[in-house]
Amino acid sequence: MQSQLDRRLALQGGNKVRELPWPEWPTHDDGTERALHAVLHSGRWTISGPFTGESSRERRFARQFAEYCDSKFCTPVASGTASLTIALLALGVGAGDEVLIPGLTWVACASATMAMGAVPILVDIDPTTLAMSVEAARRAVSERTAAIMVVHPYCQVANLDGFLTLSSELGVPLVEDCSQAHGARWRGQRVGSLGALGCFSMQQSKVLTSGEGGAVVTSDRALYERLEQLRADGRMFSAEPRRGSLELEEVGLVQGHNFCLSEFQAAVLLDRLGHLDAENARRRQFAGTLARIFQSTDLARLPPQDVHAETTYYNLVLELDMARFGGNSVDAVARAMTAELGIQVSPVYRPTNRHPLYRPHLSPRYRGDAVRTASLDPARFALPNAEAARARFITFPNWVLLADEQGADDILAALRKVAACSDALREMEQGILHQAF
Ligand SMILES: Cc1ncc(COP(=O)(O)O)c(C=O)c1O
Repeated sequence: MQSQLDRRLALQGGNKVRELPWPEWPTHDDGTERALHAVLHSGRWTISGPFTGESSRERRFARQFAEYCDSKFCTPVASGTASLTIALLALGVGAGDEVLIPGLTWVACASATMAMGAVPILVDIDPTTLAMSVEAARRAVSERTAAIMVVHPYCQVANLDGFLTLSSELGVPLVEDCSQAHGARWRGQRVGSLGALGCFSMQQSKVLTSGEGGAVVTSDRALYERLEQLRADGRMFSAEPRRGSLELEEVGLVQGHNFCLSEFQAAVLLDRLGHLDAENARRRQFAGTLARIFQSTDLARLPPQDVHAETTYYNLVLELDMARFGGNSVDAVARAMTAELGIQVSPVYRPTNRHPLYRPHLSPRYRGDAVRTASLDPARFALPNAEAARARFITFPNWVLLADEQGADDILAALRKVAACSDALREMEQGILHQAF
């Protein structure tokens, strides 16, 4: 017999569906601790410190991550934003250029573009994958298009066949933002290796993390040599470093910045890279379990996967049948799910043209340039598919998928409970609204 408390929403003081903790994130073990300890005593905490006679952790990570990504080269950097920034700089994107970016993504795609003084062109998404739509991208192309920045979002790979075709037809480089897709494949090849450049974030929520961090991969030597200098104030690794002397040599063929990854971060990434495939496999298995048990409900579904894609799960995404939630908004359902499960459940990003962190008019870069300021106006972009997705998808963080099968049962049980308590949720949300006014 269900108790009264079980039937009341956790938001209203009822019992939570799940009392068990979810797996911890980020993961680490004795190997991670030993790796950090070794850096502490190594006398080298950064690549800009003196050469100690052994390869830096940063170089070792660069070699291993390039190989992991089916690419020839890798330049590690301090963040995903830095990876996008040096990618665009390496491609020569500048003031007056336009970069196609998805209209549903983290704000870094726009902010990195604006760091060039270029204009982000917000492109609507494919309603199935939530990635940028190839057709919408084609319609957004102009003579000023200098790069296409495609994101592989949540647990999907963008249609790379379509984007590679568009890129080669236009002669405009494709930048893959793989911040949410470490280890995913398209037609058997790792994402990041198909475009001109592949960019990654290693921020804490990502499936490979050092707290903050990032990387760019490429197989183009000329681009790589620019990337190396761009992230180290114009310096590059010496071919013949001398113990006790600086390993970075002043080259200065570009205007660089300091976007270097520290040796502590590189040590963590080296250690965790060895666990990435196994953790991604566990997440896939969990998603498979969830898909199986969701066959018994029409409350929600996992988005279908493209046959060419082997996806990874940065976020688990569920498409809700909103008609089953009694007129509640997706935000209200996400709040109720968060309370039932004890884990942050969120709607997808707000479309970029109304995202609270996209504030192009506050940037001083375009001061005095009325034409470009007008072209930045978010209101000139229509993103109907991104709007529709924002109203019916919810996301769960990657570590939920490291739980056992009970976790999948709990997600379904929470959804059923929230749907069954729709009236109570609506009344509660209306009460909060009334209090606010
Ligand atoms: C798609 C995408 N691009 C870029 C970034 C920026 O990465 P960072 O926060 O490491 O700068 C993120 C981070 O959330 C992201 O999800």
